[in-house]
Amino acid sequence: MKIIYCSNTGFTKQYAIMLANKLGIESIDVKDIKKYDIKDEEIIFLGWIFAGIIMGLNKVRKYKLKCVISVGILKLTDEYKNELIKSNNIERDKSFFYIQGGIDYKELKGIKKILLKAVASNIIKENKNENEGIINILKNGGSLVKEENLNDIIEYINKNNA
Ligand SMILES: Cc1cc2nc3c(=O)[nH]c(=O)nc-3n(C[C@H](O)[C@H](O)[C@H](O)COP(=O)(O)O)c2cc1C
Repeated sequence: MKIIYCSNTGFTKQYAIMLANKLGIESIDVKDIKKYDIKDEEIIFLGWIFAGIIMGLNKVRKYKLKCVISVGILKLTDEYKNELIKSNNIERDKSFFYIQGGIDYKELKGIKKILLKAVASNIIKENKNENEGIINILKNGGSLVKEENLNDIIEYINKNNA
């Protein structure tokens, strides 16, 4: 079993490394998969969300995907999770998880920074009283990465590993 991740500013990579340490397996940047023979390996995939799309997922669909973990910033609701499943063509029976990462304006470059600022100001307008923590992170940057966010995932992997 191997972990493959796609990270833009490092939050998804942090989760990938945490999970790799917890499970005692290797984590590989999706950019490097050609260097590895992973066709017979089960793959745990983590990808950051860019405008509703789980980045890097298309590069690993042909492998034996054990589960897909998406990392975004919005609050998880059933509706949001279903939207992600639908727009990323995830099979219903594939195990799918969503966890919150963070925003690092120093690491964001070019068009992505401009896009996020636009997305952020829309969210801020729509959610005046909600999600204070998320709104603050959208404005100023910050991290919601916590080891405990991986608990359900680790439980799932351990259960399905017999
Ligand atoms: C341009 C842009 C668009 C984003 N779109 C979404 C989105 O649609 N939904 C979401 O939950 N998070 C969205 N995010 C937040 C990122 O998914 C989040 O910051 C994630 O933790 C980034 O992970 P990384 O550090 O591994 O790149 C967006 C971020 C950027 C920069």
